[in-house]
Amino acid sequence: MADLNAYILKNKDRFLEELMELLRIPSVSADPDFADDVFEAAEYVKERLIEAGADNVEVCPTDGFPIVYGEKIIDPKLPTVVVYGHYDVQPADPYELWDSPPFDPIVKDGKIYARGACDDKGQMYMHIKAFETLHKNNALPCNVKFMIEGEEEVGSPNLGPFIRENKERLAGDIILISDTSMIANDTPSITTGLRGLAYLEVEVVGPNRDLHSGVYGGAVANPINILAKMIASLTDENNHITIPGFYDDVVELSAEERANMARAPFELEHYKKHLDINDIHGEATYSTLERTSIRPTLDVNGMWGGYIGEGAKTVLPSKAKAKISMRLVPNQDDDKITQLFTEHFLRIAPPSVKVTVMPHHGGKPVVTPTDSIAYKAAENAYTKTFGKTPIPQRSGGSIPIVALFEEVLGLKSLLMGFGLDSDAIHSPNEHYGLFNFYRGIETITAFYGEYTELSKK
Ligand code: BES
Ligand code: MN
Ligand code: MN
Repeated sequence: MADLNAYILKNKDRFLEELMELLRIPSVSADPDFADDVFEAAEYVKERLIEAGADNVEVCPTDGFPIVYGEKIIDPKLPTVVVYGHYDVQPADPYELWDSPPFDPIVKDGKIYARGACDDKGQMYMHIKAFETLHKNNALPCNVKFMIEGEEEVGSPNLGPFIRENKERLAGDIILISDTSMIANDTPSITTGLRGLAYLEVEVVGPNRDLHSGVYGGAVANPINILAKMIASLTDENNHITIPGFYDDVVELSAEERANMARAPFELEHYKKHLDINDIHGEATYSTLERTSIRPTLDVNGMWGGYIGEGAKTVLPSKAKAKISMRLVPNQDDDKITQLFTEHFLRIAPPSVKVTVMPHHGGKPVVTPTDSIAYKAAENAYTKTFGKTPIPQRSGGSIPIVALFEEVLGLKSLLMGFGLDSDAIHSPNEHYGLFNFYRGIETITAFYGEYTELSKK
């Protein structure tokens, strides 16, 4: 153990410089303008895996962006850890809200600032460095496989087919992922669940062209007014979602499980201050932690139509659109929820407008076990490196592919996230603590030893 930490310490500047190099590549998967950069990031990950000592490293083409694969098989009889992560990032817009350019990483106050610093380049890269540390010190105790994709931020459309076609190659014992957060640097936690997702776009069409709002206003339906009303009606006064059947499959937690959840540290004043809000908001009778983990949600992500330029234009718009996401919890099914939404939304549309609903992507919720060898091994590893037993906590975010790993590969995932909710992922000024980066590498390194030991018993 001591030797490995000495290696990490000795190489810490290089580890960071390599991550900064990766962060300089603007691998935005959502925007076609950055396509070349996404491919370049894949090549970069490949090169670093080779240097770290992985074998059979390959940039595997897909119909979209490639999946970087690499492995180290030391003994087929030993357990195999399959590491998943992503090298693509969210768009950095709006650029003007960044204090420093998003693809020109800087270290400030012990944090590295860049798009992808935490989600997920910084967290993914810890795994390559943990592997390097083990391998270069002849201390790798088990087999490892890497599967690093470039389309996570756009719903992983090609990873599903890839894992179906590569079942043998991806055979293993556990999927290991660092792409979530922990409670605080002095309160380590292991993520034990992710919400599912149903994402769609709606369009409300009124008259066949934009009209003069004086000449026609009052007599012709305004699609924006109508859309706003329809959306507002999707939740009631208790912030309960009104779509019939929406909650039918939701698993309610027992009083004991809820009491356990309530033991996790949470400071309401700090939370409000951090977000600069006067009050919180959410489904009646549930706590903030519950609202963001074990309860489903419905949110508008964007809404537009009519005139949004400078000054005023008196116009009755022809169209209005909105992007809507629903976060799902066990045992909700994204396809079923999409269908329920669609039927309901079309039903509540007044005859004065035409409404269409277009599904985007989705994914199923997951809950990961806390009584597994992998969880126990992770618990031991965190206890060693943080000096505290980690708290199991379900997260509100989604990594849709995790449910497919279980369905297709029959593998459970272990979510060792080292980010913080305050790291501003998907926002301007995304950052990742150097503490988290290095402690993460140490903890992952320790995990391999613990996992291999516990697997022998
Ligand atoms: N790493 C995040 C998910 C995440 C963040 C989980 C924080 C838990 C805590 C991932 O990259 C992500 O952003 N997922 C998307 C879904 C995807 C289909 C675009 C999400 O959760 O919005
Ligand atoms: Mn991510
Ligand atoms: Mn993300």
